[in-house]
Amino acid sequence: MAKAAGLDAFKENHEVEAIDTSKKVKIGIIGTGWIAGSHAEALNEMPDVEVVALADIVPGKAADFAKEFGFESARLYDSDEALLEAEKDLDGVCICTYNTQHAPCAINALNHGVNVMLEKPFTVTLDEAIEVMKAEKASGKILTIGFQPRMSANMQMIKKIVESGELGDVYYIQAGGGRRRGIPTPFGTTFIEKETGGIGALGDIGCYSLDMLLGAVGYPKPLTATGYISDFFGKDPAYYPTHPEYAEKFGVDDFAAGFVRLEGGIVLDFRISWAMHMDTCGDALILGTKAGLRIPSTDCWNGEFNKPLTIYKTLGDQTVEYQVPLKPADPKLFYKKLRSFVDAIKTGGTATVPSSEIVINQAILDGLVRSAREGKEVTIEIPEV
Ligand SMILES: NC(=O)c1ccc[n+]([C@@H]2O[C@H](COP(=O)([O-])OP(=O)(O)OC[C@H]3O[C@@H](n4cnc5c(N)ncnc54)[C@H](O)[C@@H]3O)[C@@H](O)[C@H]2O)c1
Repeated sequence: MAKAAGLDAFKENHEVEAIDTSKKVKIGIIGTGWIAGSHAEALNEMPDVEVVALADIVPGKAADFAKEFGFESARLYDSDEALLEAEKDLDGVCICTYNTQHAPCAINALNHGVNVMLEKPFTVTLDEAIEVMKAEKASGKILTIGFQPRMSANMQMIKKIVESGELGDVYYIQAGGGRRRGIPTPFGTTFIEKETGGIGALGDIGCYSLDMLLGAVGYPKPLTATGYISDFFGKDPAYYPTHPEYAEKFGVDDFAAGFVRLEGGIVLDFRISWAMHMDTCGDALILGTKAGLRIPSTDCWNGEFNKPLTIYKTLGDQTVEYQVPLKPADPKLFYKKLRSFVDAIKTGGTATVPSSEIVINQAILDGLVRSAREGKEVTIEIPEV
């Protein structure tokens, strides 16, 4: 036992020592709100990273953030533009602004020749995503989208199962999960206002649910979408006993459902919720010609399930099911997401979560919103970049 612990200790030391600290990677953080704190904590663990600049449009916010996370020597700015204009020596930025500022800030950073880690969702609309990708292409810089569940061994297992051929040809995927009560307003209203959030549950957690399923089946392109969105809870003052005024500000969706036809004859049955009179939209399912996979209802964002995956198939004339054992939950997903960005910068590598995949995710979100607005099925076309 003692010997095993000793070996583990060696392994950890070895991993830390393996990081080349001879040249520090210079990172800026744009938007110093809630999630920027998780970026800061992860970056603070990296001996080869220096956070050199912070920007927030709310006066004093970047300074408070600098104090909280020990970035005393970081230069402070009152906008992304000011930071990018002044900082000529940046290796990368983490863009942690609210959703409607993702596209302008990412385009700005790429146009300044800076590598970008962009928080999820990619953007609010497909048009914005395409504009960001044009800037990415013109700059030749790294653009990676902040989907930390991709780092989870349990999430990766879903893709491995599909790729193993165990399910046969996949023809139907169903999203599950969602929240009974979970409109995100812990630090104000930036998630729920149209001007800042831009898109609600659909973009906020729907993008994770889509990534889990579409990533597993190779991100087939969407062809058509029929969408539904509602806001019955978000617009109800009774939902916020201590802040009834939030109901007036609510300008996005709190529930969404849809049916999407994908290339390759696969259909996606989608649902997601910030709030509803139900505990969960259910488990996620992947149906194939040889077997089906049940993925327990999950919040998606942390990349973990509390129950194992189950495979259903037929052996001889018997229907059978078996479970895929869970791997231990990984507390370092956020660190790994940031580490992969820093490593790509250092090695001239590529994005771990590339825009070429996430633009498909965005096109589906966009198609569902358009269809819901128009009240009919819409076609989805993703322009070439
Ligand atoms: N990956 C995750 O697990 C995770 C979790 C929570 C939030 N998020 C995502 O992170 C993003 C931010 O969420 P949050 O909860 O931190 O929001 P927040 O409102 O707490 O913080 C956003 C900050 O960006 C600042 N900002 C806006 N535009 C700016 C600009 N042009 N230049 C500089 N600063 C600007 C705002 O003033 C605010 O302080 C959202 O897109 C959200 O979806 C990701």
